[in-house]
Amino acid sequence: MSHTPHKDDVPTYTLSEGCPVADPTTAQRVGSGPVKGLMLLQDTQLIETLAHFNRERIPERTVHASAVGAWGEFEVTHDISHLTSAKFLNNVGKKSKVLLRVSTVGPERGASEPVRDVRGWGMKIFTEEGNQDFVFNDIPVFFVRDPIKFPSLNRSHKRNPATNLPDASMFWDFHNNNQEGIHALMILFSKRGIPASIRTINAYSGHTYKFTTEDGFVYVKIHLKPDQGVKSLSQDEANRLAGENPYHHTADLHDAIARGDYPSWTMYIQVMKPEQAENYRWNIFDMTKVWPHGDFPLQPVGKLRLNRNPTNYFTDIEQAAFSPSTIVPGIAPSADPMLQARMFAYPDAARYRLGVNYQQLPCNAPVSKVYAPYQRDGASRHDDNYGGDPNYVGASLKRVNFSGSRVGANGHAPFGGGSQAHEQWVGQVTAYSSEVTDEDFVQAREMWKVLGRCGEQDEFVHNVAGHLRGALPEVQLATIDMFNKVDSKLGTRIHEALVKES
Ligand code: HEM
Repeated sequence: MSHTPHKDDVPTYTLSEGCPVADPTTAQRVGSGPVKGLMLLQDTQLIETLAHFNRERIPERTVHASAVGAWGEFEVTHDISHLTSAKFLNNVGKKSKVLLRVSTVGPERGASEPVRDVRGWGMKIFTEEGNQDFVFNDIPVFFVRDPIKFPSLNRSHKRNPATNLPDASMFWDFHNNNQEGIHALMILFSKRGIPASIRTINAYSGHTYKFTTEDGFVYVKIHLKPDQGVKSLSQDEANRLAGENPYHHTADLHDAIARGDYPSWTMYIQVMKPEQAENYRWNIFDMTKVWPHGDFPLQPVGKLRLNRNPTNYFTDIEQAAFSPSTIVPGIAPSADPMLQARMFAYPDAARYRLGVNYQQLPCNAPVSKVYAPYQRDGASRHDDNYGGDPNYVGASLKRVNFSGSRVGANGHAPFGGGSQAHEQWVGQVTAYSSEVTDEDFVQAREMWKVLGRCGEQDEFVHNVAGHLRGALPEVQLATIDMFNKVDSKLGTRIHEALVKES
């Protein structure tokens, strides 16, 4: 395995605030003779070194903690612009940067790799329209279809709370009582359950997604197949390897990339029309079921190639955060309840694990321009925090352009142009924001009359004018207009007070 390359430039050692210190092995000690005990609170180098070490670990992922990762690129090989408006998919030959993290699910960070377990596939595609994450598995189906069972499923696959040992009784007890997972179990305990290498696994969306255009949408399942072929280990081979080289999968991927033997995968989709979904034999929102290829053949889309090892595992792979909710226009979630739950779970986990500004970490930051001024401050803000730009919606003080659709989630149009009947079949969703109507002024008018009966109207006018005086002239005018809708005299009186009292 290759190690960190030598650099020609020779850096000068400093503390983390930049002050140079002559020797990183020294600590300040008290005493005049040869025996020097007692150390000093003023010794910043010592305190910083020890304190930082205590904080080196961040919470590990509750699932998928142990992983290997690399950088690469995704290239479109087949035009599918009739199926999706996603720009990164819309030109044959178009390439996008990719970060891939492949994990075991149950074992803790640092655990042995050649074990029987599902492999997770966290793939971030850096597109011109923001990040597109594919958070897949190497098996096409899942163990449960009700998201509330997910924590229990995983605990039963991990350690017994008393013995702290993996526990076959817990494992099988869960599955005996949740038999919808039988298809996934069949795959896990087949030869495919232990990959020979990360370079030789498939990846599957499992869930049904939507590909959308202006004109409508289709349902898709996404598959990636290794150009190296699928290769697996027998239980005996894996047992031996786990003893001899527990980090075989990390070493295998790292060394292949280091020697220029770049692994690649072909991406395919299965495509289903909405009306086919309504009468299909299987519920397409149930991820314990595949769509047989005979019913919905694989159509090639593009090629993923890994071509660069992480320069630092922690910053590139451990700090990476993937989520099924990270989707570009042209791709949309289906009504699969598991997928819906996952769209909450991953950003929530990332905020806990990495902090609320995790999207700004270099491994997660989009290559496209981000302007999200309604998310401000928070721990570890690394950019300019939008300076003085308005931090509230609807501001007239700075113009903001908007694009995307108001129908559906995240500015996407999952139902765009789709048939009404199908929307009813699924249950229609729209992105809703209430409209202001005259109804909103009715009670305010009553209040104005109440103030009149109590003799408090002058004071009200005085209070508003006193506050409004500090605002820009165009803001004052808009405010006067608003109060005029309560009562035409009210706006006028505020205006007069502004002029008179200034
Ligand atoms: C309701 C079901 C599920 C829930 C609530 C859930 C939740 C989670 C959580 C909380 C994490 C850790 C994230 C982090 O700490 O950054 C995770 C990781 C992961 N999950 Fe799930 N998961 C579910 C089902 C699935 C399914 C069905 C798949 C694949 C089709 C999947 C693939 C992954 C992958 C690949 C990772 C690792 C991501 C990474 O590399 O950071 N999960 N999941």
